[in-house]
Amino acid sequence: TTISVVSLSLSLSLSLSLSLSLSPSPSLPNWSRYVSKAARKTQLEFDYDGPSMKTSVPGPRSQHVSSQNVGAINFFCNYEESRGNYLVDVDSNRMLDIYTQISSIPIGYNHPALLKLMANANSLSTLVNRPALGILPPENFPEKITESLLSVAPSGMTRVQTMACGSCSNENAYKAMFIWYRNKERGHNIPSDEDLSTCMINQAPGCPDLSILSFMGGFHGRTMGCLATTHSKSVHKLDVPSFDWPIAPFPRLQYPLEEFTKENAQEEARCLEEVEDLIVKWRQKGKPVAGIVIEPIQAEGGDNHASPDFFRSLRNIAHKHGCAFHVDEVQTGGGSTGKFWAHEHWGMDDPADIVSFSKKLLTGGYYHKDELQADKPYRIFNTWMGDPSKNLLLAEVLNVIRRENLLEEVMRSGKALLNGLYELQAQYPGILSRARGQGTFCAIDIRDDATRNSLLLKARDKGVLLGGCGDRSIRFRPALIFKEYHVHIFLNIFNDVLAQHK
Ligand SMILES: Cc1ncc(COP(=O)(O)O)c(C=O)c1O
Repeated sequence: TTISVVSLSLSLSLSLSLSLSLSPSPSLPNWSRYVSKAARKTQLEFDYDGPSMKTSVPGPRSQHVSSQNVGAINFFCNYEESRGNYLVDVDSNRMLDIYTQISSIPIGYNHPALLKLMANANSLSTLVNRPALGILPPENFPEKITESLLSVAPSGMTRVQTMACGSCSNENAYKAMFIWYRNKERGHNIPSDEDLSTCMINQAPGCPDLSILSFMGGFHGRTMGCLATTHSKSVHKLDVPSFDWPIAPFPRLQYPLEEFTKENAQEEARCLEEVEDLIVKWRQKGKPVAGIVIEPIQAEGGDNHASPDFFRSLRNIAHKHGCAFHVDEVQTGGGSTGKFWAHEHWGMDDPADIVSFSKKLLTGGYYHKDELQADKPYRIFNTWMGDPSKNLLLAEVLNVIRRENLLEEVMRSGKALLNGLYELQAQYPGILSRARGQGTFCAIDIRDDATRNSLLLKARDKGVLLGGCGDRSIRFRPALIFKEYHVHIFLNIFNDVLAQHK
């Protein structure tokens, strides 16, 4: 009862605190600042009221710690002080975090439900003793998997294999597709002596010339197999040998999608035709396509969307040609599109043969159809195969998502975010274009790469942490507890940044 009272007061106060327009500030023509009440303490008692900046970022303390050349590090963080939607750095700057550790924090920093769980003595042995899960799992492991991952299993899938990260989930999912494909080819007979001897020296038939079809602009990780299907940026791929696998064009759609349905349908048809051509060509080359891998929204590659029709047709093409269909939900999974899995927007009973995940699910892994279960132990295997402490945390994250109706919240704040981006785009047509999104999984294009990077830094100095993707996009990846008033804080600050941009 307490919980439902809290969530009732939450939705009431949210509906009461919808944006009010004030008269525009003289320095910012046409822009009406959004005014939202600060979060009531009963709503998100662990969240801060707003950003608070003491220095530019990285501040002196961050720079001091990073005096060695550390390349990719942006700044150092204070995770004890970070709360809810706010990341605090070592210089006590408190930033509204709309990037969330590359889209991997489901319910904000230091969520009380998770802190409470970890303070429980029963959780301690799970934290302290990391098992080799593939051979010596704890007694409660099946129960915890049922409570966590299997409770959100995609339609048609009853099996899940946990892994450590996104790349190793995809890497093993690819192996599962190849093993499945060869078993089919062999008529499920045992491998021949030749298979067994040639595989030891990387030769066919033991190491068959099979392929995986992927899409231009896709990102599936940086390990060797994954990298052969990653085509977002050259920095990931340069100097690393790869496979001769087919790469299909991903539809390049015009936004807003509803205004360009005809043009977009044509573009999608063109790409689907190319997919079928490539499957036939690679079969003729003696490198049959065992699987197709795709993201429901290409994320690292620039937030490229495609329609449910496109994915349904692609799924049918995979069926028709006997290829497994692997949906990579590492970035899209976990609720930020407004559904737990982005592929649920396609409305299919049988959306995929494999769905991989990581990031917001806290553990990596992949769901799969029964047929894609490897036929022998140790064929899909490593030492840890995940981490049971992450399943404990995930079970509690899922409780919070259900209790607080966070997917509905995502739809509400996502709508406010996208509408705000449309308004900004109308006001700054020389800088912004192609606002797009599903739930809070949104993005907008900036005039060019240099302007994008400069806007990201300026927003950060004003207390908003954002990420880039693609050549010149900004991506929005807030936690699921990002409410409408957080959207308003962001829009006001971003408008200030744009107005001051020279
Ligand atoms: C769609 C997708 N697949 C795979 C990966 C790789 O995951 P990880 O970085 O955990 O290896 C990512 C990471 O950003 C991703 O976005």
